[in-house]
Order: sequence, then structure tokens, then C-alpha cells
Amino acid sequence: MFRTTHSWPACALALACALALAQTPPPSEPEPQWNTMQGEKLQALQAQGDAARGAIAFEICQGCHRAQALGRPDGSYPRLAGQHATVLIKQLTDVRAGRRLNTKMLPFADRHVIGPQDIADIAAYLAALPVPPDHGRGPGRGLAQARKTYEAECAHCHGNAGEGDAQRFYPRVSGQHYKYLRRETIDIRDGTRTNANPRMRDVVKGLSNESIEALADHMSRLPVQALR
Ligand code: HEC
Ligand code: HEC
Repeated sequence: MFRTTHSWPACALALACALALAQTPPPSEPEPQWNTMQGEKLQALQAQGDAARGAIAFEICQGCHRAQALGRPDGSYPRLAGQHATVLIKQLTDVRAGRRLNTKMLPFADRHVIGPQDIADIAAYLAALPVPPDHGRGPGRGLAQARKTYEAECAHCHGNAGEGDAQRFYPRVSGQHYKYLRRETIDIRDGTRTNANPRMRDVVKGLSNESIEALADHMSRLPVQALR
């Protein structure tokens, strides 16, 4: 690694600088500990996803996530249709690495079943699926306040229309089942969902169950629209 023409003090200095640089996150990656780019996540993100192959690989997932990845209105299984490929890849590889707990799913989605290329293929397939507006919605309480809170605290990440942000790994929340949105927000607040963005956790940590219920309801009512 070191060229012999370098003097040792110069090498030591270069090494110290290199280490300091390595510890300074590049500006494109604001929360490295939350979303470090390495291993199979990086491989899947860099792979060219093939939606046709993804449709076949997704068959094993359909028993829970249902045909067309529409999920279930009772919130037990999320809708994956129309979710950003980057988000799907992060969530799936987080589960495989133990950063997000999902003991029900793991046997069907672990390394002996699918590899990084399959993950890229499935993500390409899911991201392009249509998002019909027939998902579960909430009881309609406290929506006016929830809208204000959403626009002040959540929209700069999840988007005014709930469209999320593919580049930043922020999930799309429009078109998602109310009960799933409610459970996930509570799990992130309580730390049960362990892989969440720390800034998101800060925003939800003071919220009551009632306000989370209304926020989830608001998100479930955002108009479903094409992502790109
Ligand atoms: C045995 C049922 C089951 C199977 C099979 C299954 N999943 Fe899941 N999956 C779940 C459950 C339950 C959740 C929600 C976990 C939670 O509430 O945090 C989930 C969540 C996810 C999420 C996170 C969604 C989000 O919005 O964060 C992704 C991505 C996902 N599954 C992909 C897949 C893929 C791809 C397959 C097939 C290789 C698959 N799942 C197979 C049960 C399953
Ligand atoms: C700093 C950006 C940011 C803010 C602010 C933020 N979130 Fe999030 N949110 C995220 C990220 C990133 C995830 C995915 C977390 C992960 O990596 O597991 C997420 C996940 C979620 C999920 C789960 C979605 C899914 O498909 O699994 C819900 C629901 C949610 N956020 C609701 C909210 C609400 C409600 C607010 C405001 C009170 C909010 N978020 C504020 C970034 C943010």
C-alpha cells in the first residue's frame, strides 16, 4: 500500500488524513449509521433490476403480500406496490442483516432463498406496479390537526403528497394501508422498529397514540398518484 519512496512520517500523516476523511461522511450521505452503503445493500442498489424476473421471484412473497403486492387492509402485510426500489432494498437488506426484526418474513426472504440480484429484480417489479386507491383508511378523527402536523413535521421527508423520496430512502406513504402506517409510526416511536432514521424518531417520539392515529389516517387519505 505504501510506496517505499515515502518517508514514514509522511506516510503516517497521509494515513491519519485518510482515516479522518473516511470518518467524515460525504455530503450525499447525511446519516451513515442509519443507512450505511455496504454489503449486499450496495450490491442490490448497483445491480440493474429486471422487473420480469422480479415478478417470478416475487411469487414466494405473494402468500403474505398478496398478488400485485397490494397487502392487506387490516395492516398485517404492507402494500409494496409502487414503493421506491431504494426503500424496498434498504428494508429487505435491513431485515436480512438483523437491523429490523421480522421473524415471520425472514424464512421466505433470507439469503438461502434470494440473493442481491433477485432483490434488485423484485424491487424493480414492485416499484412499477400500479397503486389502486382501495387500501385501508382510518376512522376520520382529528384530520384537520393531523394535516397541519404532517405538513409541518413529516412532509419535508415523506412529501406533501406522501410520495417519499427515492434518492434519500424515504418511503412513499400514500396508497398504504392505514393500520400499517399507524403500527409502523408507533413502532418507530417506541423503538420496536430499530432501523429508523434518527430524525424521524425525534419527530415522532413525543406524539400520543391519538395523534399518530390521526396522522396515519391523513397519510392513508393522500391521493394516490404516479411516482414518476
Ligand atoms: C410470512 C409472511 C411474509 C412473506 C412470505 C414475506 N413477507 Fe415481507 N413482510 C411481512 C410482514 C408481516 C411485514 C411487515 C413487518 C412490520 O410490521 O414491520 C413485511 C414487510 C416487508 C417489507 C417492508 C415494507 C415497508 O414498507 O417497510 C418489504 C420490503 C418486504 N416485506 C418484502 C418482501 C419480499 C420481497 C418477500 C419475498 C421474498 C416477502 N416480503 C415475503 C411478511 C411477509
Ligand atoms: C428526516 C426524515 C423523516 C421525517 C421528518 C419523518 N420521517 Fe417517517 N420515515 C423516514 C424514513 C427514512 C423511514 C424509513 C425508516 C427506516 O429506515 O426503516 C420512515 C418511515 C416511516 C413510516 C413507515 C413507512 C413504511 O412503509 O414502512 C411511517 C408510517 C412514517 N415514516 C411516518 C412519519 C410521520 C407521521 C412523520 C411526521 C410526524 C414522519 N414519518 C417524519 C423519514 C422521515
